[in-house]
Amino acid sequence: MSPQPRPGILKIANYVAGDLTIPGVAHPALLCANESPLGPSPAAVSAAREALANVHLYPDADTRLLCEALAKQHGLDPSWIMCGTGSESLIEVLCRAYAGPGDEVLMPQFSFPMFAIFANAVGATVVNAPSANFTADVDALLAAVTPQTKLVFIANPNNPTGTWVDRAAIARLVAGLPERVMLVLDSAYAEYLADPAYDAGLHYVTEHPGRVVVLRTFSKLYALAGLRIGWMHADPKTIDLLRRARFIFPVTAPSQAAAIAALGDAAHVQRSVAHNTQWLPWLAKELSSRGIEVLPSGGNFVLARFPGKWREAEAALRAKGVIVRAIPPLEGLRISVGLEADNRAVVAALSA
Ligand SMILES: Cc1ncc(COP(=O)(O)O)c(C=O)c1O
Repeated sequence: MSPQPRPGILKIANYVAGDLTIPGVAHPALLCANESPLGPSPAAVSAAREALANVHLYPDADTRLLCEALAKQHGLDPSWIMCGTGSESLIEVLCRAYAGPGDEVLMPQFSFPMFAIFANAVGATVVNAPSANFTADVDALLAAVTPQTKLVFIANPNNPTGTWVDRAAIARLVAGLPERVMLVLDSAYAEYLADPAYDAGLHYVTEHPGRVVVLRTFSKLYALAGLRIGWMHADPKTIDLLRRARFIFPVTAPSQAAAIAALGDAAHVQRSVAHNTQWLPWLAKELSSRGIEVLPSGGNFVLARFPGKWREAEAALRAKGVIVRAIPPLEGLRISVGLEADNRAVVAALSA
C-alpha cells in the first residue's frame, strides 16, 4: 500500500484559484480577492526595496520592530503580539497547537474557509453553527459547544458574507464560552468599520488571557497581501506555546520593513479608508436599487446574491472586464470595492 494521508486532508477541497485573465482584456478589474484598490503606501514599497539589499541575512524571527510599531499604534504591550506569514498562518498554528483528532473546531456557517481547511488538516472535526440571515449567530455558536470543542473561530466582519455582529454579541460569546475553549476573533477588516456598535475585540485578550486571541492582517487596508503579513494579539503564554509550533522565521525582512513603513503612512491609510467609506455604500446602494440582494457589509467588499443566476451574473461582469469571486453556497458573487471606474463597471454590467 502506498503512503496514506491523514484522514482530514482528503476532506479539504483542493483550492482552485480564480481565473485572473479574460481573453482580449489586457487589464481586467480584479475585484475578486478583497485587495485594496489604492495599492500600498509608496513608503512601504520603498522600505521593502531597501530591505532587499540585506536578504542574505535571516530576518528577525520575533519581528521585534514590527511588534513595537503595532504596539504603539494600538496601545498594546509588544510582548503580547506575534506576527505570521499572513493571518492564515496564525489560523493554521492555532489549529495545530490546540486541536487534533477527536476535537471539535466550531465556527459559524459561511465562515472564512481557512478555519475549516486548517481544522480538517489537523484531523479535528469541523462544526458549523447555523447562521441567521447569513450572519453569525453567537447564541447558535454557544449552543453548539460540546465537551470536545477546543477552538471557536469567528471572523467579524466575516468573509465571504461581509456581515458582522455587534459588540453586545461578541461580549455574549466571550462570556458564554467555557474557560477551556480558545476563542479566535479574526478582525481582518476591522479598520474599515467605524460604527460604534463594532468591537474588534483587542481588549478581550488582556481581560481573558489564554482564552481569547485576535487576528489582524496587513493584506487588506494596508494593501500588502503579496508580502504575507498578519499579526495576533495574544497573551505571552499563548505566544510562547505557538512559537514552538510555528516556522522560525515567519515574516521576511522586506515584509517586516514594509509593514512598519505602512503603519507610519497615516495619510495613505486615511485615503484608503476614505475610499472604502465612499464606495462601499455606493456599490451596495446602486446594486440594491436594481433589485439585487446585497448583504450588509462591514468590509471592503459586498456579497451580492443571484439565486439561480449567479453564473450569468459572473459572466456578465467578465464580459465587461471585471473579475469577481463566485461563492456558490451563497449563490452569490463577492465583489471587492474597486476604483471608481471599476465600481461603475460593476453596476453597469449587472444593470444590464
Ligand atoms: C476574514 C479573513 N481572515 C483572514 C484572511 C487572511 O488574510 P492574510 O492575507 O493575512 O492571510 C482573510 C483574507 O481574505 C480574511 O478575509
